[in-house]
Amino acid sequence: MRKFTSVSIAMLVGAMLLQGNAAVAQGARERIAGERLSRDLCSQCHIVSETQRGPALDGVPSFLDLGRSKRTDAQLRAWLTDPHPPMPKVPLSEREIFSVIAYIRSFSD
Ligand code: HEC
Repeated sequence: MRKFTSVSIAMLVGAMLLQGNAAVAQGARERIAGERLSRDLCSQCHIVSETQRGPALDGVPSFLDLGRSKRTDAQLRAWLTDPHPPMPKVPLSEREIFSVIAYIRSFSD
């Protein structure tokens, strides 16, 4: 009985670790997708990475600043769903918005 219990616990811990790794891998995939989208769709106006040297528009927040700002995911989502001028509406699917936010968030670490 005792042996059974420790095996069960080991299995449970193993399953939790696997799940944790899957979540980490999933997060990494989102960030990579978000980085690609940002480069393709946002980088003509925003600085979207630490290595981008421009050109970008004056006065437009960089993604590094956005990631470090106090904006919540919900605020970023609201903006990307319905941006205000001078930012044009960039057509993004729900999934793409999720990825871009995951990418912007990666600068808050
Ligand atoms: C044609 C230029 C242009 C493109 C392309 C563009 N943006 Fe912007 N964006 C702006 C400007 C200009 C502002 C500043 C608006 C302001 O301060 O009123 C802005 C502001 C923002 C903000 C800050 C909103 C806030 O809370 O103040 C976010 C987030 C943002 N953009 C995300 C994105 C993302 C993600 C993309 C690509 C999918 C993108 N932008 C593409 C011009 C652009």
